[in-house]
Amino acid sequence: MSAPRLSVIGTGYLGATHAICMAVLGYEVVAVDVDPAKIEKLAAGEVPFFEPGLPEQLAKALESGRLRFTTDIAEAAPADVHFVCVGTPQMPGSDACDLTYVDAAVTALAPHLDRRCLVVGKSTVPVGTAARLTALVQDLAPAGTDVELAWNPEFLREGFAVNDTLYPDRLVFGVASDWADERLRAAFAPILEQGTPVVRTDLATAELVKVAANSFLATKISYINAMAEVCEAVGADVKDLADSLALDDRIGGRFLKPGLGFGGGCLPKDIRAFAHRAEEIGVGQAVSFLREVDAINRRRRARTVDLVRGMLGGDLSGVRVAAWGAAFKPNSDDIRDAPALDVARTMHGLGAHVRIYDPAALENAKRAFPELRYGDSALDVARDADVVVLLTEWAEFREIDPDALAGVVAHRRIVDGRHVLDAAHWRAAGWEYRALGRS
Ligand code: UDX
Repeated sequence: MSAPRLSVIGTGYLGATHAICMAVLGYEVVAVDVDPAKIEKLAAGEVPFFEPGLPEQLAKALESGRLRFTTDIAEAAPADVHFVCVGTPQMPGSDACDLTYVDAAVTALAPHLDRRCLVVGKSTVPVGTAARLTALVQDLAPAGTDVELAWNPEFLREGFAVNDTLYPDRLVFGVASDWADERLRAAFAPILEQGTPVVRTDLATAELVKVAANSFLATKISYINAMAEVCEAVGADVKDLADSLALDDRIGGRFLKPGLGFGGGCLPKDIRAFAHRAEEIGVGQAVSFLREVDAINRRRRARTVDLVRGMLGGDLSGVRVAAWGAAFKPNSDDIRDAPALDVARTMHGLGAHVRIYDPAALENAKRAFPELRYGDSALDVARDADVVVLLTEWAEFREIDPDALAGVVAHRRIVDGRHVLDAAHWRAAGWEYRALGRS
């Protein structure tokens, strides 16, 4: 079977990375988006978001001549496999997942499908969506065209998007026929040749794998943060507790880092949408714990503010706060549901003079929250600060020398919201070091 031609609908985080990597792997790819500004940038070799290594891959893909960008969905028609990679955000005012963009993409694409082809969903969706889209695509495709739908969830992490796409842990193919399975295998041939495990399954299971994985990861983080709350009450140390649990390889240390908790465009909305969907289909009780996972996670933000307030005698008005970090995690400029900005905004609302620095997300933060104040470096925002609060664990914050910083601040107080600093080292340099769940 010859290499399939690919189309990628949606060039956000997931779609742009997928289209670029597939072209680098040797496929002819046409990438489509309704946003002309995004398409123009990508076509000119510019990645519209921060992702280490992706600009280099984009240059390679464009150089190869195999990758094209367009706003005209009709140009996707000649492809054999169409990947739907549009966003599925949380519905405003609800926990449900907003499927507007997925429905719009399939509705726009289907009438152009004039040959036997496979439409593959990659977006994170509530279980049952693929079955509904199967009917929709078959209904809207021209009469006589043989179109099938498959689901191939994507597990890439921001900051590691290129690596996760080229070297995934596993591929999940949710298919309704051997033909769809063969087409997907042909579309991922270079990755399969590396020995990447494939799970072939039905559509519903493929949809569920993604939300189940993200729910597990979120639960692990909230579990250790729940332990942090217990540690706080009894003066125990959650860092030592987590390190000890991590040494049991049945538990493992990944996603067991206590602190400010999870944010971003995936974990928070995925657990809410999953709980919501489960309730809709009558199995809400099975995943009701996800409501608690969410509640524990939200409490981290409030408790971090309380910790800072407690250090300053209970009142933040007029207090100068250096906020280190705005992105929801390091190596990203993504501020969606960022715990760091939530904490900074709450402190600002309590009357503190907060100044924020982040190595990559400053521009996004300024655009979203122009009422907050920003600085050019970690030391800049720390000038004359009464307290420094580390909110996102960028490597450069970890490397700051407490002695050098002491000459800049008004008072040596530091809150380590991510448990990444060496407490003994900072205390030895005369700092009052505090972290949630640590004595
Ligand atoms: C996540 C999933 O990891 C990925 O597989 C999926 O495709 C999309 O959602 P991402 O949102 O990029 O990826 O971020 P991730 O690295 O998972 O981190 C999520 C959040 O959890 C961040 O805010 C991070 O700071 C926090 N986190 C992570 C912790 O608080 N503790 C940990 O131990 C790990």
